[in-house]
Amino acid sequence: MDARPEPPEVRAEKLLRKWFGVAPSVIASAHGRVNLIGEHVDYCGGLVLPVAIPQRTCVAIARTDGKSRRAVAEGFDEAMGESGEGWPHYVFGVWEELEKCGAPRVGMFAAIAGDVPIGAGLSSSAALCVATVKATLAVLGRSMDASEIADLCRRVEHRYAGVPCGLMDPFACAVAEERKALLLDCETGEHELVPVPETVRVEVVDTGVRRALADGRYAQRRAESERALAMIAGVVGPRASLRRVSLDELHASKGAMEEVLFRRARHVITEIERVRRFVDAMRAGRLGEMGGIMDASHASLREDFGVSWPQADETVERLRREPDVLGARMTGAGFGGCVVVLRRCG
Ligand code: GLA
Repeated sequence: MDARPEPPEVRAEKLLRKWFGVAPSVIASAHGRVNLIGEHVDYCGGLVLPVAIPQRTCVAIARTDGKSRRAVAEGFDEAMGESGEGWPHYVFGVWEELEKCGAPRVGMFAAIAGDVPIGAGLSSSAALCVATVKATLAVLGRSMDASEIADLCRRVEHRYAGVPCGLMDPFACAVAEERKALLLDCETGEHELVPVPETVRVEVVDTGVRRALADGRYAQRRAESERALAMIAGVVGPRASLRRVSLDELHASKGAMEEVLFRRARHVITEIERVRRFVDAMRAGRLGEMGGIMDASHASLREDFGVSWPQADETVERLRREPDVLGARMTGAGFGGCVVVLRRCG
């Protein structure tokens, strides 16, 4: 019989002892997330609806007497300093950003262990950042609210990892729960936890294809959305974001922009509306409608936003033929990663 894997807390603590010979002062963790709906709209001031997944990332930290800082991650057999490439960007980036916010520079050893798959669109990097912030704040005896944590982690992604992501992932990793979806308004930061009906199960199916957000296609989509907004503003007047553009205004601006920009903007505008309808259906327990809206979201991401990938399309098609599947769509940034499925249960 297979032994059950040790929880990430235990693995992080063992790693810390093995590499640095010390016991943790604190251990903190953050869940990965899967987005139910509202894809590629967070950086356009839109609405998103992620939910936590059971997998977590844990960070164990020991405060030391000196000023030196080292970190080690499970699976990477090397203790790193701040010049390390890859995952160290997140840990040392968080520490640097915390200092910019007035935190004192103290010596620390950190060890990371977790189960959130990397590059699968389940926010492994945001979970690492959020867990690092939480552990460090606990070591320093400080606190921050969820939106400050999310803002700090987003800055780390932008400045240290070079990914111009939105607010959704760190916010979700900081506050989302497994059976409560986080309805986040990315324009105002307002948020609310909305219970997922007990008669549905949220499943995540990994297509096995991996992608890196830093590969440029994510940034390209974001830039296209911004160009579309500028074109629309040239016709209908200034707008703060695509959130503030109606479908009628988009159509009125069609002649002023390349076709591809029109499609990108159409995805964003219709997706924000789908989030609203999905949340209404979820609150009212209209399960079939929720599934249909997810299907429409996938079609829009594939046709208009151009971020789906063949294995996601095949997986979605196959799952939809199962009688208890209500809906399925690609989730996350796209070009690889997972499909999120809504299944009737009980
Ligand atoms: C990535 C980014 C998020 C969001 C999604 C797409 O996960 O980190 O900010 O833009 O892609 O919805």
